[in-house]
Amino acid sequence: MRAKFNVCLLWPAPCFDWRMRLSTRLSLSLIAGVSVVSLGLTLYQTQAERRGLRRELQQRARIVAESLEKSAAPLLQGHAISDLQQLVIQVQNHERLVGAAIYGQQETPLAMTAGLEEIEAAGAGALRRAKQAPAGGGAFFSWKGRTTYVATLPIGGAAGSAGSLSIFLDAGYIDAQAIPLWRRALAGIAVQTVMIVCATLLFLRWSLRRPLAHLEKWLSDLRRGAPPEDPDLPEEAGFAPLKREAVRLATTLTAARAAAEEEARLRNAGESLWTEERLRVFIRTRLEARRLFVVSNREPYEHVRRGGAVECSVPASGLVTALEPILRASNGTWVAQATGNADRETVDDSDHVRVPPECPQYTLRRVWLTPEEEQGFYFGFANEGLWPLCHIAHTRPIFRSPDWEYYRIVNQRFADALLEEIAGEENPVVLLQDYHFALLPKMIKAARPDARVAIFWHIPWPNPEAFGICPWQAELLDGLLGADLVGFHVQAHCNNFLDTVDRLMESRIDRERFAVNRGGRFTYVRPVPISVPLSEEPAKPAPGESHLERLKTLQQVGVDVPMMGIGVDRLDYTKGIPERFRALETFFEKYPRYVGQFTFVQIGAPSRTHIPRYRDLTQEVTEEADRINRRFRTNGWRPIVFLPRHHSHKQIQPYYRAADLCLVTSLHDGMNLVAKEYVAARSDGGGVLILSRFTGASHELADALLVNPYDTEGLADAIHRALAMSPEERRARMARMRMYVREHNVYRWAGNLISELANIRLPAPDDGGHGAAPVAELASLAAGR
Ligand code: G6P
Repeated sequence: MRAKFNVCLLWPAPCFDWRMRLSTRLSLSLIAGVSVVSLGLTLYQTQAERRGLRRELQQRARIVAESLEKSAAPLLQGHAISDLQQLVIQVQNHERLVGAAIYGQQETPLAMTAGLEEIEAAGAGALRRAKQAPAGGGAFFSWKGRTTYVATLPIGGAAGSAGSLSIFLDAGYIDAQAIPLWRRALAGIAVQTVMIVCATLLFLRWSLRRPLAHLEKWLSDLRRGAPPEDPDLPEEAGFAPLKREAVRLATTLTAARAAAEEEARLRNAGESLWTEERLRVFIRTRLEARRLFVVSNREPYEHVRRGGAVECSVPASGLVTALEPILRASNGTWVAQATGNADRETVDDSDHVRVPPECPQYTLRRVWLTPEEEQGFYFGFANEGLWPLCHIAHTRPIFRSPDWEYYRIVNQRFADALLEEIAGEENPVVLLQDYHFALLPKMIKAARPDARVAIFWHIPWPNPEAFGICPWQAELLDGLLGADLVGFHVQAHCNNFLDTVDRLMESRIDRERFAVNRGGRFTYVRPVPISVPLSEEPAKPAPGESHLERLKTLQQVGVDVPMMGIGVDRLDYTKGIPERFRALETFFEKYPRYVGQFTFVQIGAPSRTHIPRYRDLTQEVTEEADRINRRFRTNGWRPIVFLPRHHSHKQIQPYYRAADLCLVTSLHDGMNLVAKEYVAARSDGGGVLILSRFTGASHELADALLVNPYDTEGLADAIHRALAMSPEERRARMARMRMYVREHNVYRWAGNLISELANIRLPAPDDGGHGAAPVAELASLAAGR
């Protein structure tokens, strides 16, 4: 425990164990090596010392024996036994001598020191070995636990020996002398051990701790997914293979991780993102062999004679943009009014033309209207009656009986055309579009109960009181309730529709299924918000590129300012364009530092110009722009640039990308696709969307600056807030809106609409279209919604 604690002072606790083991092993090896060497040396040293001391003892014994022999020889010859005894007693005083004896011939003891018998008995063997050497010898033996040396010498020369003598010397001191040597050696080993341990620890700390700690951190960073850099290891050769392997490991792991992430991203995006291709596959799967039929007033391709040539163009219509992919994906038929002056020249005998012209994928069936029919149906009932009725925008609806009659006739004309198209089809799927065709669902269903019919109402649905002013309200609702599915952009419009039906029709509202039940026939009502085709994140434009494009765009309209705003609308009184201009006026009043710094470009596509209210509006907007420009303009600068002409989708894109803000100030709008188009165009992540809270889009684009277009001051402040907004906030808001629009794009809208319709189980044919068989539950679109 103590050792552990001490070593912990050198290393942080988590690393203790393995480092402790490493240093223990290293130290033990060193200690063992040092000990073996040290002990070996000590052994060698003691042996050498012992040999030296023994030699010295043997020489000394020889000298003593020879001096004793010299004295003893004459006494022995003279048989002076008592003198001999005297002689050995004298010799006994010699240092280390423990005894001496003189023998006559036949080894008869003649004189000996006291107590020698005992020593002789103990060393009898050694004595015998010593005597075997004719010139005298010596041998060691143990007596009373001490080493003793006996040396013998013949008296009177080796040849004619008169006797012999032996002396016994204490050699115990020789062994005793080894003890301090061993003690010193062991003490040395102990000191070296301590030093080795300390040196090992210090070595590890200085030379290994830093690189190992780096390696440990690097590995843990790698595990957490930090971007891989080479591990910070010393350049010494020993670390090179470790470093090489670590780098390889990081490379492999990073590649594997990136592959896994990419796969997960693709899988996730594939599940959540709708694309044109996914819609195509989805339609084929859901509709099986059935074909899809779409009816709208506006045609997707218009043939127009310009000069001697016939040109084909796509009308500016959000509805067309939204429906094109569905038709392309399903090889269906689109029934629409012919509006181009060269339309007749381009159809076949059945009024069909294959479109798109460059790569035909579906059939356009054109329906011809007389000018009177178009006037009564389109300008009259649809756009002077239903349009202002459904948009609460303070323009009075005008209901004329002849217009209503034309509305009915034209609906029947379209019904007949569609019935011709679906004549050979079993269980056709029909998508009717908008307020121009409220009577069509019932007309189709009456003739073809096997058809699945949906109508999508692209504009708001008012509350029952507002709708109640329409003289033909019951006929309109009756016509609509012929559909299996009625779609709106937002839930509030669905609620208004059900409330209206509840108030005006003989029916039962099934709130649980969100459906109308008329004698057992169900019409489901669903919110399906329309969108734009953004599906993939396009590459961001290079900063230089977008700067140049912006300069070019502004130059085209004679504007040279650091800040610019954009508005793109049909010239329609529901769009709040005069309100927008008045808010701009207030903005320049309140924030005069923007004079000369900010210009607002308004693109206004002329629309429904046969209707006086629209002509008045165009005039009002032009006059308002002129008035405000007169008030604020300076040399070379004006606050508003009004462009009252049609711009194609492609022509509008540079304006969207150049604009610091986009103003959508509808007084009421079903959805408003300009808001989503602006978001879709901002792949650079910039721009602020100012959006009326009376649009369907405001229910989805929560990161826009939401405004009340009637509140002139509030709108002026929102313009200021947008221009003063920090780039971070602007980017964060735009990023969230882009993600939303990408995930809720038009392909998803189409997929949801078709899925809702395909999930409906129609009554069996023998029910005659009513009564008994209930319609199945609508499975909500778990995957798509
Ligand atoms: C707006 C509405 C659409 C409608 C269109 C008709 O864009 O939101 O739902 O279909 O007007 O425009 P048009 O030019 O054909 O009258």
